[in-house]
Amino acid sequence: MKDKLLQAARDVMQHAYVKYSHFPVAAALALSDGRIVTGVNIENASFGLTNCAERTALYKAYSEGVKKEDIVAILVTTPKSFLVSPCGACRQVMRELIPEQADVYLVDAQDRVTHLKNIDLLPYGFTEDDL
Ligand code: THU
Repeated sequence: MKDKLLQAARDVMQHAYVKYSHFPVAAALALSDGRIVTGVNIENASFGLTNCAERTALYKAYSEGVKKEDIVAILVTTPKSFLVSPCGACRQVMRELIPEQADVYLVDAQDRVTHLKNIDLLPYGFTEDDL
């Protein structure tokens, strides 16, 4: 499953809209029915409006009817030879939209993989239980 996710993410990396950072990121979600939903980062001249690859993939998936419990894994990759890990904003969104125990794979250009669980990205995160 991880290999298919990695291939899907690398296939869409070319669509990353990275005019300003020249730092493409691609994400791929694995769904329980075998489907994969991908996303890339999309930047803006007003830098703060940039949407990271993880959030693009998640918002695409949810807008197509995917539910939290359908998501079993997310993979994030860049063409860099070092680990890239989700930013704080993405961790907060992932905490809400992906199950706690879903697998998170962070993969670099040399296929080195860091594997963890979604809950581990944001300990003590803010959730609906805090409202
Ligand atoms: N970026 C992502 O897409 N995901 C992350 O988790 C980290 C950062 C993007 C945002 C921006 O387009 C570029 O990487 C450089 O920050």
